[in-house]
Formats: sequence, structure tokens, C-alpha cells
Amino acid sequence: MGVKIVETSLRDGHQSLFATRMTTEEILSVVEELDNAGYYALEVWGGATFDSCISFLNEDPWERLRLIKSKCKNTKLQMLFRGQNILGYRHYADDVVDKFVELSLKNGIDVIRIFDALNDVRNLRQAVESTKRHGGECQIALSYTTSPIHTVDYYVNLAKEIEQMGADSICIKDMAGVLLPKDAYELVSRLKAAVKLPIELHGHCTGGIMEMTYRKAIEAGIDIIDTALSPLSGGTSQPSTEAFQYSLEGTEYDPGLDVKALNRAAEKLTKIKDKYLSNGLLNPKALSYNPNILKYQVPGGMLSNLMNQLKDQGAMDKYEAVLNEVPKVRKDMGYPPLVTPLSQMVGTQAVMNVLTGERYKMVPKEIKEYLHGFYGKSPAPVNEEVKKKIIGDDEVITYRPADKINPQFEEFKEKYKDLIRSDEDVLTCALFEAKAVKFLTKRNNPNEIVEVNLIVG
Ligand code: CO
Repeated sequence: MGVKIVETSLRDGHQSLFATRMTTEEILSVVEELDNAGYYALEVWGGATFDSCISFLNEDPWERLRLIKSKCKNTKLQMLFRGQNILGYRHYADDVVDKFVELSLKNGIDVIRIFDALNDVRNLRQAVESTKRHGGECQIALSYTTSPIHTVDYYVNLAKEIEQMGADSICIKDMAGVLLPKDAYELVSRLKAAVKLPIELHGHCTGGIMEMTYRKAIEAGIDIIDTALSPLSGGTSQPSTEAFQYSLEGTEYDPGLDVKALNRAAEKLTKIKDKYLSNGLLNPKALSYNPNILKYQVPGGMLSNLMNQLKDQGAMDKYEAVLNEVPKVRKDMGYPPLVTPLSQMVGTQAVMNVLTGERYKMVPKEIKEYLHGFYGKSPAPVNEEVKKKIIGDDEVITYRPADKINPQFEEFKEKYKDLIRSDEDVLTCALFEAKAVKFLTKRNNPNEIVEVNLIVG
């Protein structure tokens, strides 16, 4: 039994390389080849693909999903789901999470990969329960990071808890691409010994080590790896699918993919990639390696955000100082993994600490909410002194953040009743509010040129 492969080019591939701008038409042009290549699943949907559809492409993300499903008869479709945040950045009520899971499955998704930025399992519970109840395959992802508390034991214990929750598989989600080959070997070996579930690895090539990491994970018995076809692989994206097919062919790990089908799809994707290279959306810099992410343990996307923030402020000379401040802020916050939205929050705080010349003199609203417990439990305790300076003696919640959110679905349905035509539309509005209003207004009045300026409270 060889290693199974999940193809990521239609979600993470273009998200990592050119701002998730591949159109539905471009995606559909390769779906049949991919469907016949022998993959375990195709990753096709997530927060950024959804957002990009309504914000930039003027496409209905639900319709995209149905169209992909209509052409994909043999292979499972997979999506990425941010726990209680669904595809957004804040916590939603349980009924909205449930409805989103139900309709994602109904419109064509088979596998839902659920994660929480803080690995707070309370934030996974509703999405997991809904996925099981509505008949989906439920994968829970461990947000991988390095810190004194994120040890192999920590992840093994988390995996055992996840197994108890009823997940069908576990993913090691290394969004920054910092998992070293030797650590992957140890982590996968220990996980395989501790739980019975299939284990999958998702990593990024940003630091230049991920092919080696995958190889060691394979030797340790990983069941599934995430790769992208060569035109959309490497750099800030995943390792290439073909590299693993060719290098493992004829071995006990042979993924058994149809190389001819891969080549046909890759040829089409090369043309698509060339379009984004020439229109500038694909910055060639995204294709080269950046060992700084290993040095600073900061995801590639966060590095470029920091650079942009400093450029805007005319403070590029502070770049090194900010990069050195990031791990200190992270430590103060109890070592949150640097994944959305924590990567933005920690990054912005580090910039503020350096530019104001006084640590925590200026603090973003989100950091205050985090310290109040509204994102969940921090992996390690936060720095008490810093907490006191920012929120004083305010109460910190210890219950699950969504516990105090009343059902919202009917409320959203009522609020957007003039725009919506389906429950799917209600969810689009619930998650993307102003952007969704703009998109649906245009969709409902295709021949009108409307200046949209609705007040969304
Ligand atoms: Co990724």
C-alpha cells in the first residue's frame, strides 16, 4: 500500500503563489484530468478561495463547488475549515457552523479538514460533531509550530484527544514550513504508535526543506501527503506532485498516480501560471526559497506582510528589529502558532512595539480580545505583567468562546432577506458581510451599474 496524495493546486497552490485568483473556468479545465489521476482527494475550497470568488472574481463560491463536483466523479473533494471561525476571522454561533458544514457537504465536499489556530479543541467540537452527523469525512489538523511547549509529547497528547473526538484522520499542518526532516520522522513515528488514525502531512516549501521533510515522514509511515502539481508547487506552495510520483515509483511507497494524466493537467496549469506571471499577480520572489523563515520561525506570508507594513510607515530600517521582536511577543502571548489570525495579530503588535519605542504602548483590539480569552485558551500561560499592562484586572473568560453566542442563522436570514435566494447566500452574508452584500447586489442586478454603499451594521 503506497502513500496517498492530496492535490492542493486548486486551493493552497494558487493561494500561496498568486493570491487565490484562479478562476472557476481555469479550475474546471483541469478537474477531469485530476479526477482520473488516482489522487486520494483534491483540495478545492477554503476561506481564501471563498473570499477571492466574491471579492475579486465576481463568482459564486457555492456554484464553483457544484461545478467542480459535477466534473469530479471518482475523487473526493476536500476543504479547509477554521473551527468555530468557519472561513472567517471571528467566532460564530454553533447553528451557523452546523449549517455551513451541512451545506458544504450537500454542495459537493467530502472531506473537511478542521483546525484551530490555538489547537484549543473546544473550538473544533461543533464542526467535528456536525461533519460526522451530516455524513462527511472529518479530518482534524494539528497546527504545527515550534516552542518550548510544542513538544512531540504535546502533539501526541493532542492527537489522542482528537482520536477520542471521533476524527477520521489527523493532519500535521505546518503552515510555516518549519518542520525539520528529523523532527518529522520523530513526530510521525510517535503519532503512528499512539493513534490508529491515518496521518497526513501538509507543509510549505518556503524554507527550502519540505521535500526532505516529506521524505522522512514517508519513511516514518505517513499515510497521506499534500502536494501540488509542478507548475503550482515550490516556493511558498507545496512540494511537487510529480517529484513524489517519480521518486517513489516502484518502491513500497509508490503513490500509483497516472503520470500521463498528471502531465496533461500540468501542461494546462503551466499556461495558467504563465498568465499570472505576466500580469504580475505571481511575484517570482514567491518561487524562491527563504531560509529566514527557519531562522525566525515566521511563516512566509507573515514576512511579506511585515515588510509591507514597514514600507508603508517608511520604516524599512526597523525590519530586523521587528523580526527579533516577533518571538518575544509570541512568548508573551503564550506561544500561539503563527497562523491566521494570530500571525497578523502578533506581527502587528511587534511592529507597534518597535515603532512606538515602548512595548505594548499601543495594542490592537484583537490582542486585547485574545488576552480576555475570546480566541480560546493560549497554549502556554500569557505573560502576567504584559496582560496587566494591557487589560488590567479585567475578567478572563474560561468558557468556550462560542458558548455565549446565541443562535445566529435566522437572524442573518432576516437581516439579509432582500438579497438572499438560498441558505447558501445567508452563509455567504454571515461570513463576509459587506463584501457579500456587494457581490450579491451585483449578482441580483447583472445589468445595472450600481454604486453599492449599503450600511451593514
Ligand atoms: Co497550507
